[in-house]
Parts: sequence; structure tokens; C-alpha cells
Amino acid sequence: MTDREDMTLTSAGYYVSQEAPIRTDNPVATPQSTPPDILRCAYMELVVSDLAASRQFYVDVLGLYVTEEDDEAIYLRSTEEFIHHNLVLRLGPIAAVAAFSYRVRGAEDLDRAVEFYTELGCDVRRDPDGFVKGVGDSVRVVDPLGFPIEFFHQSDHVERMSWRYDLHIPGELVRLDHFNQVTPDVPRAVKFMQDLGFRVTEDIQDDEGTVYAAWMRRKPTVHDTAMTGGDGPRMHHVCFATHEKHNILAICDKLGALRRSDAIERGPGRHGVSNAFYLYLRDPDGHRVEVYTQDYYTGDPDNPVITWDVHDNQRRDWWGNPVVPSWYTDASLVLDLDGTPQPVVARTDSSEMAVTIGADGFSYTRADEGEKKLGHQL
Ligand SMILES: [Fe+2]
Repeated sequence: MTDREDMTLTSAGYYVSQEAPIRTDNPVATPQSTPPDILRCAYMELVVSDLAASRQFYVDVLGLYVTEEDDEAIYLRSTEEFIHHNLVLRLGPIAAVAAFSYRVRGAEDLDRAVEFYTELGCDVRRDPDGFVKGVGDSVRVVDPLGFPIEFFHQSDHVERMSWRYDLHIPGELVRLDHFNQVTPDVPRAVKFMQDLGFRVTEDIQDDEGTVYAAWMRRKPTVHDTAMTGGDGPRMHHVCFATHEKHNILAICDKLGALRRSDAIERGPGRHGVSNAFYLYLRDPDGHRVEVYTQDYYTGDPDNPVITWDVHDNQRRDWWGNPVVPSWYTDASLVLDLDGTPQPVVARTDSSEMAVTIGADGFSYTRADEGEKKLGHQL
């Protein structure tokens, strides 16, 4: 539980403190083994039910570049990427996530990953030829939180498309930015990810210390992944970055022109958390994709941790616009290493939707006025 007296209230309405003000009474044991040195989130492997429909969404509408494809899978990358792919779409019987994949610094980090997760008693598998095309020696695990995680270092290099302005579209997706995972016990997840070397940049709590979500990074941005409180393990979204806000507006205009505005779930808008401009889309299988731009640098060792009050109506949308209920409730299943969906465990801590939406919830715009915005969102 966090004492707000340990935090400093800023003029913008959020709190700052040093290092994560999150404690767990249900920790995953800290391994003795050294964790792998993770560079960044690198790609997601998504199982989809109709490869042609997914190709139309990710390639024809969103403009991701096809590195390689066959009848079973499509390998896609963003504009600035030089490794083989940022997204693998694989045809399969159940729409779900097969892997959240991180790139590690060197080959020795794959040995470290094997030792680290073996010590935790996890299912650990290694394929020296890689589990997918374009990457070499890889380790896949089901982590203690129930998520399928991959680590790799070697990847085929492909052309970085940044200079190919002749191919760019108004809504150009330039980088993979982050994953977002749904997990029932956020403090437990945060402690485990800290043991793996991640650092918290922002979180959402109430004044009793219940943690509703936390953002965690390896690369020096707001996050490589976020832990969102809810029934899990599930995948909340995968996020690509654009250079500018207008690129996100162009995606909305294009979806409208294609009569595909029903793919827009939430936004566009400005986040409180991360300060980024955002848009949430749903792909043909319902997998959620965020498009996001202009968060901030977090690489200094004393980067302040930001804590938002769950009742601050500007935490998830800086303009105070409603969060649609599906955004809180819907998420994608995740698979074990044999392709079976992981069982979903219910969250027992308070639900962010319940405490902020509807007759039982409240949120405020100005905390000092004690204003309660009852039933604002339904
Ligand atoms: Fe996100």
C-alpha cells in the first residue's frame, strides 16, 4: 500500500515519487539467476482466423510493410524497423496471442533466460533455429503470470523504409511501441517484471493503495509493456507509433472513407498517463491495436514515477472524454506453448471500470472542489 505522503502532488494533478510506490503481499519468488538483458519489445505473434481479412486490415488499411508471407503466416514490419518483423499474423483455429517477443542484448542472454525461468519452474523451450522465420536462436516460456513470452537476439536485417517517402501513407506506422497485458494482480506482476529488469514509469492507484494499472519500460520511453488490472492473463493491446498527431487523424479519416469506422473503438484523444496522443482500433478478430505518438523520454536513473488517482477523470483521457466499457472488459486470449488457451483468472481487487463508471463509481475533474461526476460514462 502506498502512502500519498511519500508522493509529491504536481501542478498538473498527478503525483510523483522515486521508484515504484507499489508493494505486493503475494510475490513471485525472486530467482537467484541473472535475468536476460532485454533491449525492447520487438514483435507480437498473433493467431488470426482469416489471413486475407487480417492482411487487408494491417497492410491495405494500416500500411505495415510485408517482409515475407506464405499461406500460413504474414510477417510485417513498421517503417523504421531493421529487424525482420514487428508482427506475425499466423492462421489458426483460435484468435489469440502466441508470443510477446522481446529482443535481448546478446546470445548469452538466451542462456540467462533459460536459467531464470527454469528456476521459477516455468515451461521453457528453446529452438536454435527460431520459432518463426527471420529470427535465430529463441527461448519461449510461459511466465509465472501465465503469458507466453519469447526472447531472441539474432534477426535477419531488412531495409529500413524511413527514406522511402514515395511509399509512405498519411497514417504511417513507424515503430512498434509497446504491449499491454491484462493481469488480475497488478502488484504481483509489477514485482515480477522488476525482477526481470523492468522499471515502473507511471501507475494508477486509489488512496487506499489499490493498483489498477502500471506502465513498465526497458527502452527509454514510457513503456515496453503495461500491466492492466483485469481478468487474465489476456492481451489488452499491441501498439504502433506514428511520428505526429496528424498521422493518427489520417487513419481515422481513412477508416471513415472506407466505411470501416466500426474498427475505431476509442479515441482519438490525449492520454493523461504517458501524455501520448492515441487511437484504439479492433482488427477483424477483435484484437486491439493502439496507434500512439509523442510520449516522453524516461532513460535517466532518477526518472520520476508518476501516480494517477483512479478517480481523476483526466488520467486515461486528458480531455475527460469517456472510456468505452468494451475497452475495460474485452481482451484477447493468450496461448500456452502448445497452442492451448491459458485459463482466465478473475481479478479480485476493485475494478477500475466499477469505481469510475456508473451509479457506484465516480470521477472528478478538479480534486480540490471535491466534484463527483456521477454516471458520466454510461
Ligand atoms: Fe497502450
